[in-house]
Amino acid sequence: MDALDAIANRRSISRLVDPGPTPAEIATLLGAAVSAPDHGKARPWRFVVFTGEDRARFGEVLEASARHLAEVAGEPLDEARAEKERRRFLRAPVVVAVLCRMQARRVLQAEQRDAVAAAAQNLLVAATALGYGSIWRTGDAANSPVVREAFGLDAGDVIVGFVYLGTVPPDTTVEDRAVDPTPWIEPVPRLTPMDGPGG
Ligand SMILES: Cc1cc2nc3c(=O)[nH]c(=O)nc-3n(C[C@H](O)[C@H](O)[C@H](O)COP(=O)(O)O)c2cc1C
Repeated sequence: MDALDAIANRRSISRLVDPGPTPAEIATLLGAAVSAPDHGKARPWRFVVFTGEDRARFGEVLEASARHLAEVAGEPLDEARAEKERRRFLRAPVVVAVLCRMQARRVLQAEQRDAVAAAAQNLLVAATALGYGSIWRTGDAANSPVVREAFGLDAGDVIVGFVYLGTVPPDTTVEDRAVDPTPWIEPVPRLTPMDGPGG
C-alpha cells in the first residue's frame, strides 16, 4: 500500500481482534513512529507496548485509576465498571501507550508534544499499511494521576494516547469519508491598511 492510500484508508476501528502485529511488525511500526519530525531532535517520545498477560495486569492500574476518580467525584465504583476497567486493554491484541517525556531543551514543550502526536499518527498510518486496524484513544486514563504514577511521569510529561492495534473483523463497516479539504482552506492574509494620515 502506498503512503497516500495508507493515510486515506486509516480509520479508527473500535473492535480489534487477533492476530495482532508480530514482534517484528511492532518494531517496524515503532520505527515508523520515531521517523516523525522532531524539532531540535528532542526525542521526547516513549512507547510502552502491552501484549498478552500484560494487558490484563495493567487492568489493575486502570481499575485503581477509575476508583480514584470515582472517590474524587464522591461516587462508589460499581463492580460492572471495575470489571470494564480491568478488561480495557483486552479490547485489542496490542496496546501501545504513547508518552511524551519532556526533554530539557530550548524546544517548546508544546512542540515536543506535537512531535509525539506526529509519531502516534505515523504509528496509525504504518499499521494501516501493514493491513492492521487501529484506534488512538485517550479517555480518563490519559489524564489520571494513578496512571501517570504507574508510568513514572514527571510534571509536564504527557500521556499522548493509547494506540490499540489488531485485526479488523470482517463484518466491520467503515463510513466513506469525503477527502475534499476545500472547506478548511482559508485565504492568505493580507496587510490591512492602517487608519490615519497616509493610511
Ligand atoms: C487525541 C485523540 C484522542 C482520541 N481519543 C479517543 C477516545 O478516547 N476514544 C475513541 O473512541 N476515539 C478516540 N479518538 C479517535 C477519534 O474519535 C477519531 O479519530 C474520530 O472519530 C475520527 O474518526 P477516524 O479516526 O476514523 O477518522 C481520539 C483521537 C485523537 C486524535
